[in-house]
Amino acid sequence: MSSRHPETCFKTETQQLHGVQEMFSGQTLTVLLIALSLQKWLFLFKGVCSSSGMYGYKALEGERFVMQCDSPYPTRLFDKSKSSEDILWFRHEGETKRNVPGEDVDSIMKLGNSLWFPKIAERHSGNYSCQNGERTIHFLVDVMQRNETGCRDYGDSEVTLVLKQGGSITCPGVTCYTSAQNTAIRWYKNDKSAVELMSFRDLTLRATQIILHTVYEKDSANFTCDHDHVDGITWTVRRTVRVTVIPPANVNLPYIVSPQCNQTEEVDLGKPHTLTCKVQSAVERNFNLSITWLVNYHDNQGLQLLEMNSPQQVERSILEQTINQSAQIQQVTQKHLGATFICWARNSKGNASVTVSLRRRPEAARLILVITGPIVMMLVITGLSVLVRLYWLEIYLLYRTYLPFTETTTVGKEYDAFVSCVSTSSSEEEDNTLTGEELGLYHLPKVLEQQCGYRLCLLQRDLVPGGAYTEDVLWSIQRSRRVICVLSACYLRSDSLFELETSLKALREDRQLRLILIWGSSPPARLDSLPPTVRRALRVLPAIRWSSGEAARSDSRFWKSLKMAMPVAPLQPHSVRTESCLEGGESPASRFDIS
Ligand SMILES: *[C@@H]1O[C@H](CO)[C@@H](O)[C@H](O)[C@H]1NC(C)=O
Ligand SMILES: *[C@@H]1O[C@H](CO)[C@@H](O)[C@H](O)[C@H]1NC(C)=O
Ligand SMILES: *[C@@H]1O[C@H](CO)[C@@H](O)[C@H](O)[C@H]1NC(C)=O
Ligand SMILES: *[C@@H]1O[C@H](CO)[C@@H](O)[C@H](O)[C@H]1NC(C)=O
Ligand SMILES: *[C@@H]1O[C@H](CO)[C@@H](O)[C@H](O)[C@H]1NC(C)=O
Repeated sequence: MSSRHPETCFKTETQQLHGVQEMFSGQTLTVLLIALSLQKWLFLFKGVCSSSGMYGYKALEGERFVMQCDSPYPTRLFDKSKSSEDILWFRHEGETKRNVPGEDVDSIMKLGNSLWFPKIAERHSGNYSCQNGERTIHFLVDVMQRNETGCRDYGDSEVTLVLKQGGSITCPGVTCYTSAQNTAIRWYKNDKSAVELMSFRDLTLRATQIILHTVYEKDSANFTCDHDHVDGITWTVRRTVRVTVIPPANVNLPYIVSPQCNQTEEVDLGKPHTLTCKVQSAVERNFNLSITWLVNYHDNQGLQLLEMNSPQQVERSILEQTINQSAQIQQVTQKHLGATFICWARNSKGNASVTVSLRRRPEAARLILVITGPIVMMLVITGLSVLVRLYWLEIYLLYRTYLPFTETTTVGKEYDAFVSCVSTSSSEEEDNTLTGEELGLYHLPKVLEQQCGYRLCLLQRDLVPGGAYTEDVLWSIQRSRRVICVLSACYLRSDSLFELETSLKALREDRQLRLILIWGSSPPARLDSLPPTVRRALRVLPAIRWSSGEAARSDSRFWKSLKMAMPVAPLQPHSVRTESCLEGGESPASRFDIS
């Protein structure tokens, strides 16, 4: 154990030398210093290292005192990072030794590798030892009382520095032990050696002082200064100065961050509203920033205080603070809409204020509806009407084809179906061996009339020669429940097309009438040459397809489809019935609006 001492002492002296060198720049002083230090080193080596591992501390009553389980000369004052469990502290009284802190937990604490006395008292004077593994170190602690006659001025343990300005910290009470001007002082800021701090801070160590060229916020700390005093053994006189950094006195007016000047806030009538004022101001030691919300209802009562919540601290540094002060309006009424609200902030320099007024918030949803509703409606209506205009015929035809009509009335009807087919078709144009003419004039009557009992109107069969063709067609269609058009390319080129056109027009007049289209060959791809009404009708209307084979068999799919499209029940034989399709009645042509 003793072999470690010279090494420890040497290291410490080098540091001291380093620290001292920083203090003086003059060369003469350096020489003096080296001599001084050398003398001291020798002394220490003799006084401490040669002793049986015993260090002495002098502390001042009422101050914070800390000693670590190490010699008094390391680079750190204490080391919180070490585990306090590994180190045992004892207090010796005669032959007995007891654990510390033991019962005295209120005034002694173990922290890291050190023993703390937050407020050391005379009763703490005595012999201590610490045991760190194999190593045991003894300490003698002497607590001095302020009113002791030995020293008239123990100096101040509290120093207040002003932020951003220069300042100095003096190691107090040094003159009680030495009159020498150049006593070597070892400084610590909290746990760190000031020598260490010097390398990255613009501070100077001068005699018994630390000179800070600029005071920073983090200089609010505990500065500990050690110096040696030889009295039998070498005592380390340890004092702690508590430094408080305060902001400079030149305070500006409070600055209201928000709301902006003369702001208008949107509110909902009947709902609560919170007014918030965010104020930035200097931190003042003797003056509290006050923020108030006032209201002026413009009703002779002047300014009134609003009910306020407790202020919320948003930010605080040593220099500046930002505070939110809010006031709650429980229910916004018409009275509030006309009032002027004032946020008023005051510090020692003066006051600042902003005014806020309230405005009724337009109901967003209603606003959107009011603006966009009609536009959307107009677009929809326009779109629909455009569609209807473009496709009215198709819509109408499909509606007529697919919506079922109860065929209760047969008033004015004499035929179940009017058959429209080409009267003369050249067989070269037809793919089928069976022509449309044959189907219309032969097969339809055979099946529908003879087998099913329907009454058909065939112009070719029932026409009385000499009548006007157009009038005959109109009249026949009006008296029929269905119009069967046997279509083919030839049909579309022939005069029979007029019958299809007339049927389409008749559909509009006659709710009972339905159109049945029958295609023999496939419909021609190009319908361009046809009248528009016919072209559009052919595109949308369903048609029944037939082939000659199907026409021949009365149980084929073609006939089934055709019978489905026919009225459910054939017309009952009329008591007074005209035998001809074309008998009687005046021309109904005027009833059709052929446009
Ligand atoms: C402290 O210890 C030293 C040496 O070990 C001894 O001389 C002294 O009497 C002790 N003092 C007290 C108060 O125990
Ligand atoms: C300085 O010491 C006091 C007790 O004297 C303590 O309350 C304070 O927290 C210490 N400050 C720092 C920065 O350690
Ligand atoms: C705020 O309003 C007051 C009157 O209500 C007016 O005199 C003042 O100029 C306004 N301030 C700003 C910054 O608009
Ligand atoms: C302070 O008020 C502002 C608005 O004025 C708000 O954005 C912010 O969240 C508030 N902060 C606190 C801590 O209340
Ligand atoms: C606020 O400050 C102005 C001067 O800046 C002063 O005239 C006024 O009286 C002050 N208001 C109050 C209520 O102190």
